[in-house]
This record gives sequence, C-alpha cells and structure tokens, in this order.
Amino acid sequence: MATILVKNIKKMVGLGAPAAPLRGNDLSRVDSIENAYLLLEDKVIAAYGAMEELKQSPGFDEVIDASGRFLMPAWCDSHTHLVFAASREEEFVDKLKGLTYAEIAARGGGILNSARKLQAASEDELFVSAWKRLEELAKWGTGAVEIKSGYGLSPEAELKMLRVIKRLKEKSPLSIKATFLGAHTYPPGYKDDHAGYIHSIIHEMLPVIGAEKLADYIDVFCEHGFFSPEETEMICRAGMQYGLKAKIHANQLNLSGGVEVGVKLGAVSVDHLETMDQQTIELLASSDTIGTMLPTAAFFLRMPFQPARQLIDANCAVALATDFNPGSSPSGNMNLVVAMSCIQMKMLPEEAINAATINGAFAMEVHHETGSIAVGKKANFILTKEINSLAFIPYAFGNNLIHRVMINGQWVSC
Ligand code: NIG
Ligand code: FE
Repeated sequence: MATILVKNIKKMVGLGAPAAPLRGNDLSRVDSIENAYLLLEDKVIAAYGAMEELKQSPGFDEVIDASGRFLMPAWCDSHTHLVFAASREEEFVDKLKGLTYAEIAARGGGILNSARKLQAASEDELFVSAWKRLEELAKWGTGAVEIKSGYGLSPEAELKMLRVIKRLKEKSPLSIKATFLGAHTYPPGYKDDHAGYIHSIIHEMLPVIGAEKLADYIDVFCEHGFFSPEETEMICRAGMQYGLKAKIHANQLNLSGGVEVGVKLGAVSVDHLETMDQQTIELLASSDTIGTMLPTAAFFLRMPFQPARQLIDANCAVALATDFNPGSSPSGNMNLVVAMSCIQMKMLPEEAINAATINGAFAMEVHHETGSIAVGKKANFILTKEINSLAFIPYAFGNNLIHRVMINGQWVSC
C-alpha cells in the first residue's frame, strides 16, 4: 500500500463532506486547518489534521513538505464540450472585424462548422486531441470534468463522440461524466424538419446510447431558434427513460424557458443563466436544481455576466464551470473562471472556490468521491505556490498559482 504524507501545509481548505450543494451563507464557508497534514493511502485520503496531531510513524513512501503553501480540492468542471475536431479562430477574427453571429452562421460557421469537421475526423483523432486537452486541464488543477457530445448531429457522429468520451473515462485518472447533447442544433438536412431530427434523437440515437451505456446525462440547447421548452421536455423525458438525468443549456441568450423545464424535470443542473429575471431566480431557488454559471462564455461572447449575487442571495445552489468549447469558451481554465466570477460577478473568493469545487462535484454527482478534502475521497488536490490568503487566488488573476496537482493519487506532470 503506497502512503504519501503532505506535511507543514500552511493552510488546508475545503474540508468536510456536505450532504447537499452549498447555498446562501453556507456558500461562503470554507472550513480549513492551519499548519496541517494530509495522509494519502492508495489514491485515497486516509487522514488529515493539525501537524501537532500527526502520529509519527516511519515508512511513508513519499513525504512532501508544503511549507508556505495552501492545499485545496482540485477543481470540478461540470460543463464542457472538450471533444472537438478543430478550433475556430477564423470565426473569432471575423467577429473582431464586425461580422455578427448570424452572418457567421450563414457562412456555415458556428456549431455546424464544428459538426462538419467532427464528422470528418476519426474516433482515434478525436480521442488524441481530447486527451491532450484533458492533460492540460489536469495541469491547471481540474480533477473532475463533464464532457458533452453535440458536435456530431447524426447518429453515427454523436455515437462516435460518446465513444471517445467513454475511452477518456476508461483511461484518465480524472472523474469524467458523459452527457448526450444531440439536441445542440438542427443539422442542415433537418433544417426544415425539426420533428424529423427530434425523432432521430429519440428513436435512433437514444436506444443505442442506453444499450451501450454511453451517457450519464441528457442535455438540450433550450433557446429561441434552437429547441423550444416543449421540445426540450420531450427530448429529456425520452432520455430519462434510459436513466439519463437532465442537465440543460438554459437562458443563455434569452429568457428561454429552459430553467422552468429543468426545474419541472428535476434536472441536476441548468447551465449558462446569462439571462435571468426575478421570477426565474426564485423558481430556481425553490428547487434542488443547481444553477451552473459559465462566466468565460459570457466574456468571450461579450454578453452580460450571470447575475451571481442575485442567485446566491436568493438561495440558489450555484456552481461554476468553463463551458470549454471552440465557439464560445475556448479555454478550460477554472482558475480564470474563479477570478472572473469574483472580479465581474462580485462573488466572494470563498463562494467562488466552493462553487468551483464541491458544488461542481454535486452538479455531476461525483460529490461522494471528490470536490472536498474528506477521508475516503479520492486524492485530488492542488498545492499552491507560496501565498498568504485564499483571496490571492482570484485577485492575482492570470498568474499561475499552482505548484503541483495530484489527481487520483498521481502527481500530474507539469
Ligand atoms: O455552451 N450554447 C450552446 N453551445 C455552446 C457553444 C457551441 C459553439 O458555438 O460551438 C455553449 O456555449
Ligand atoms: Fe455549453
């Protein structure tokens, strides 16, 4: 049995195993111990406490001196689209030159551009590029990640994406959850036959996904011009027949009705939430559904940021995630998400860190294995560079404050 001792930790934060996502005042509570130790046995947290309580026993396989450093749970990124065939910086430059999203879409850009390229790529090519992205995320401190399909838009290509995610799950030390997002947009062949594409999702894609256990969740882009609340409900209910819980793209561009459908269906989360009103916030607050905010998508698209303060003050359970994808958030950097949520959305550092760790873990139902420092959870943590306070993490935005990362008991190579 391999044992690793991390000793003299200046401050260890994110302790405990809450039974439910943190909300309201609890979101700003980060339990911690100063001058602490952490003991790992066989990839799992075996014990922790104050240094003076450490029973000296010889025979640790590795001893790390963490003097001057903070130790915190690895990030839990509960919303990404990190399997894709190609980046889209040509569209980015077109946008800088003044083209609108609609003009770019009319030239064959946007999600359909990604779908064409993904359809042409092999499963192996997609696996290799996604693996590199995952490795990069791990270096930035992410220990758990949700990954969506949705750039396939045909039975063959959606299944190809989900098989890539399955291979990533099998090989990676990160905790990974797969989400089926066949309802991301309508492929060109179904431009004027929305019912036909929804039929294909329900009767061609879902039965195979169910039989081969290729997904944990079902997602729909509930938005004007994409999928209506009624279509969202129909597709999610079909997925739920196969045991897939709902996680919905909701209220990104408009008051789309996505939050209402998500709450009605008992969705694990409703994600984006750039466009909210008081009634929708109160509805979300009254539910068990987590509101996942994606500030880097709002930043990249120059949208108003999510109303984090109103959501938290109304008692919504909130999480933070990257939305890593080539169209609206070409970055999987959770450190930046946390900084942006404090600087632009006035979240407190403690709130942002909880939303990006334990609440993110709840938003992909991996809270029993990661998201906080607790005995029995996976050895997933970040050791920071020498810092004096937790607030320095979002404050010194853009700086790399990570010294080392451990995921599932393995040091991530930097
Ligand atoms: O979550 N909003 C829908 N889907 C993605 C962006 C997709 C794309 O542009 O490729 C998102 O932001
Ligand atoms: Fe997304």
